[in-house]
Amino acid sequence: MKESILVTGGTGYIGSHTVLSLIESGYDVIVLDNLSNSVQTPMLRIFELTGVMPLFIEGDIRDQRLLETIFSKYAIHAVIHFAGLKAVGESHQIPAVYYENNLAGTISLLEIMSKHELYRLVFSSSATIYGESSEMPLRENMLDRQPTSPYGRTKRMIEDMLSDLSKADKRWAIAILRYFNPVGAHESGKLGEDPVGPPNNLFPYISQVAIGKCDELRVFGNDYPTLDGTGVRDYIHVCDLAAGHINALNFIKNKNGINAWNLGTGKGHSVLEIIKNFESVCGIPISYKIYPRRAGDISACWADVEKAKNELGWVARRQLSDMVHDTWHWQIQNPNGYMD
Ligand code: NAD
Ligand code: WQD
Repeated sequence: MKESILVTGGTGYIGSHTVLSLIESGYDVIVLDNLSNSVQTPMLRIFELTGVMPLFIEGDIRDQRLLETIFSKYAIHAVIHFAGLKAVGESHQIPAVYYENNLAGTISLLEIMSKHELYRLVFSSSATIYGESSEMPLRENMLDRQPTSPYGRTKRMIEDMLSDLSKADKRWAIAILRYFNPVGAHESGKLGEDPVGPPNNLFPYISQVAIGKCDELRVFGNDYPTLDGTGVRDYIHVCDLAAGHINALNFIKNKNGINAWNLGTGKGHSVLEIIKNFESVCGIPISYKIYPRRAGDISACWADVEKAKNELGWVARRQLSDMVHDTWHWQIQNPNGYMD
């Protein structure tokens, strides 16, 4: 029998790629998303790619009545929980909105799950929970520092809450996945990242400079203690990330308790390296200027990926050149994102 997975936030960037992977891996999928930061089009694109239309429900994870209807109507075997607000800068401006959406939303989901005796959960966490550590690579147990933004604190609080829950009730089987810097797009060019307004993140910004939608990239700082002075991050292809969720689902099928894994490549790349890669893949010079450091940025960050390799049997397969190539392919196929 096929298992059914409820994917909250499934029309979003990482969620949509994971829905595709789930369908390709033989799961039935129910997507619940309030479309606050996405559109429904990725579901159509997934249909074009697989011949399967995911069941889409527009709604909010804080809506208990809606959750009750969904959980009563469908036999759900596990939940992958992506739904949440994710912009670090915005979370400093409207922290209460972030705490309400991310924390209250997760509590609402956990309540309905335990009411219906469903205890298998994969949760989207972030490398941001490690805060400002100077020791690299980051291992899963390096939790002595605190996150530096309200967004990061919502992720850390949810992790703590899930840990308390699993101590109190041994039926929970929880996988926490800490993503490093997700980038790239599906190789078909049909799914990708479609930020609303000017992008905050490096990859979408550079690709919008390359296609002429933004004039120039502002490189935030060239005086970091890194090889070329610019910030270093562990960029991971979104399709590798999506595959990690399938491994996590398999893991929690047979093992109760709570576990956390880093999902990254274990390698760091600087901003200037990324620019050079884009220039060579796109064949277009990327106009950029050095600016002061961005508030809240750390100099370098990359993952220790041994735990995911040993326990989940998962490793990231795609290289930086694949990430840049697929980002660019998505950008030229969809110059206006899903509005095309
Ligand atoms: P995204 O914004 O593209 O996707 C999140 C989805 O959740 C959106 O479609 C949004 O409409 C939906 N949503 C938000 N609040 C909701 C609510 N209350 N009810 C129902 N739906 C709701 O973001 P993403 O990049 O795909 O990120 C997915 C998850 O991964 C998030 O939890 C994010 O914090 C986490 N994460 C993202 C990154 C990253 O850099 N993209 C890194 C680490 C962790
Ligand atoms: C990468 C590098 C910038 C934009 C963010 C969140 C993190 C996680 C992943 C959710 C840095 C530099 C960037 C630009 C630049 N998300 N840069 N010019 O900040 O590492 O991580 O996304 O959990 O929580 O903070 O990613 O892509 O913004 O920056 O020079 O216009 O590129 O300074 O060194 P970041 P990013």
